[in-house]
Amino acid sequence: LMLVLCLSAAEDFDWSANNHDSFYYGTFPNGFSWGAGSSAYQTEGAWDKDGKGLSIWDVFTHKKGKTFLNDTGDSSCEGYYKFKDDISLIKELNLSHYRFSISWPRIMPTGIRSDHVNEKGVKYYSALIDELLEHNITPIVTLYHWDLPQVLQEKYGGWQNISMINYFNDFANLCFERYGDRVRYWITFNNPWSAAVEGYETGEHAPGLKLRGTGAYRAAHHIIKAHAKVWHTYDTQWRNKQRGMVGISLSGDWGEPVDITNQKDIEAAERYVQFYIGWFATPIFHGDYPQVMKDFIGRKSAQQGLGTSRLPTFSSQEKSYIKGTSDFLDRDVAELVDPRWPDPGSEWLYSVPWGFRRLLNFIKTQYGNPMIFITENGVSEKMMCTELCDDWRIQYYKGYINEMLKAIRDGVNVKGYTAWSLLDKFEWDEGYSERFGLYYVDFRNKNKPRYPKASVQFYKRIIKFNGFPN
Ligand code: NOJ
Repeated sequence: LMLVLCLSAAEDFDWSANNHDSFYYGTFPNGFSWGAGSSAYQTEGAWDKDGKGLSIWDVFTHKKGKTFLNDTGDSSCEGYYKFKDDISLIKELNLSHYRFSISWPRIMPTGIRSDHVNEKGVKYYSALIDELLEHNITPIVTLYHWDLPQVLQEKYGGWQNISMINYFNDFANLCFERYGDRVRYWITFNNPWSAAVEGYETGEHAPGLKLRGTGAYRAAHHIIKAHAKVWHTYDTQWRNKQRGMVGISLSGDWGEPVDITNQKDIEAAERYVQFYIGWFATPIFHGDYPQVMKDFIGRKSAQQGLGTSRLPTFSSQEKSYIKGTSDFLDRDVAELVDPRWPDPGSEWLYSVPWGFRRLLNFIKTQYGNPMIFITENGVSEKMMCTELCDDWRIQYYKGYINEMLKAIRDGVNVKGYTAWSLLDKFEWDEGYSERFGLYYVDFRNKNKPRYPKASVQFYKRIIKFNGFPN
């Protein structure tokens, strides 16, 4: 009953309702790509099936007390078995692209190519790619969405260790070899800020280390170098034949000065953005860490009596190797925090659409107007029961997509948009307590049935009209 009610409400949805003053009517450029996303550990399940090795997330979630109610991704949406059904949902939405990630230990159980390549795992992604292409959906593939092979963590300390760069490059190379004839868009790392900070500094995410003060900087340093290496591998060995693109998916809050007439506030806001998206984007576009990061961490380290800065440095050779290693930049969720803003589903996810436009303009001016693909944008609800009438998600999408349209009018080069996420799924340390999906998944039922939320109809409309025609 709930389902029917919500869908009929959505059919009548009028996007002129509740529009704020500056709502912009208009359409996106022709060929603008609309999609939705997922990631391997969050949706696949089948954690120990068909020769898959363990990832740091398998091990982390199997320890007690690490996630909400000790939830794990062991079965999640069973996407590994239900991918054809999910592609019908993607078709139903009329999407032009689908973003998913490859689980490294599913195709290389120890993470090391010379140890063993698991052909069953390789086949799974091959079948997924073929099925997408058959339905005319462009695959956008993330190589690293946080599920590092456990062996690499145990043996080497994961991203703390420089040897990860070569292991990751071997893995990426195998993916180019096996899938690059059909995949043209590659994302090296998803949200390395989280992988570094939450994995190695706060320990809220796998591998759960609290190497305070240095851990995140070291992990990030190796991730940036690994990204650059994979870009060069593609550039020198595959680009001619495969004609694809390689980028990185960065998240970043926008920082707004509390008082725009106060120089200190302005600087604080700038520093905030530079420590977030700038930490990764500045090396990749300009060859080195942002000056404010170098100054700030250098000064703090000296105050702490350390001989060198806690922020590692790039040699001049490394700087030129890293600079320019992005064919496009992927942006993910924008967020700002002000107590007056509406209460979010996730603690960190306030709905402040105009911050999105500002951040997109920041990227345009700071990094030479690169091609941008929005690889994640979405919002969660903290509800445990069936809830298909997600009107506030509709408002969220409406606001953000509208600000993205304004950013395009400002001259920002955004080529595509990916709603996050296609399905409700395992939300890391929050387990199943936060639902991001356009489709509701009933996790209590072992068949994991999917049901469209009202936002499905809304998103379909945006896609159909390619925006908000008046
Ligand atoms: C970013 C992560 O890439 C994704 O996996 C996660 O589901 C969303 N943020 C929401 O937390």
